[in-house]
Amino acid sequence: MLLLTVLGFYMSMLKYTAAAQPLARHALPVSQWRKNSRNYLQAGDAAPFANAGQSGDADKLLCEVGSVISAGLPGRLPRKELFEAHAVMEVVNRHFPTESRIFEPCAGCGLLAIFLVLSNRGRRVRCSDKKQPRLARELHECVAHKWPFLRQQIQWEEADVRKTTVTVARDELLVSCHACSFLSDEMILSAKRSFRPLVLVPCCYETQPVLTERSWLPNWSFRRWPWLEEGAVNRRGRTAIDEVRIQTLKNAGYDVAREEIDRQISEMNRVIVAQPLQQQV
Ligand SMILES: C[S@@+](CC[C@H](N)C(=O)[O-])C[C@H]1O[C@@H](n2cnc3c(N)ncnc32)[C@H](O)[C@@H]1O
Repeated sequence: MLLLTVLGFYMSMLKYTAAAQPLARHALPVSQWRKNSRNYLQAGDAAPFANAGQSGDADKLLCEVGSVISAGLPGRLPRKELFEAHAVMEVVNRHFPTESRIFEPCAGCGLLAIFLVLSNRGRRVRCSDKKQPRLARELHECVAHKWPFLRQQIQWEEADVRKTTVTVARDELLVSCHACSFLSDEMILSAKRSFRPLVLVPCCYETQPVLTERSWLPNWSFRRWPWLEEGAVNRRGRTAIDEVRIQTLKNAGYDVAREEIDRQISEMNRVIVAQPLQQQV
């Protein structure tokens, strides 16, 4: 009990220090902050975000959300995640401004879903992950405090993609950011199966892949992604992997656009945007 009290005291002191400390980045406008930083948003970031949003130094929605999270959940969200989710939202909105049903597997902290709904308030997003992270719940609560409608418009499911086939509904856009390695191929397979549009930000390219047969992971086999030629394509590297993914989508009847998010946010910045050429009836 005493230990918990002492720990609680130190945690609150840490929060206080983080809020009070002048940080080097506060001498710069938000637009010049390092975007790939894994430093956590702190309470002291709330005011610079609010000012940047009002002055037009940075995107208004980015700054509103940044300010709310900095003030309401200091010390929990790496700064990079904020910039990344916002940048991916911009790509989705450029290509699918009116798409109102979105399915987001491998959603992680769920911040992309939050941006997708805040930028188009008629949207509903179905998030899924192997396990909903604690951070996702905390972020959702923090942001929904200001925008309560998020509670109705973002749903969460838990499913392991290696065991359960990802099923996209007939009216859903499939969006997945940094679905690691073969999870990106699984997203392509799922989009193709239901012939639904896809926005995919691949990451973690395995160039020396070893996939042993594991019956308890039935979706984890090269047989599911023939375009990888049993890993031969992987051995040719990152560009070869993405090229074959794009060609696979084109062969399946998609119009495919290549996009990028700011490389300063992430090295894994390629975005594959695939739109079915003919909608199924
Ligand atoms: C690199 S993170 C990306 C998270 C988030 N989309 C983002 O961009 O910040 C990959 C996510 O995939 C999830 N994931 C990994 N393996 C999975 C699996 N087999 N089934 C479902 N989700 C999985 C992880 O839990 C994690 O949240």
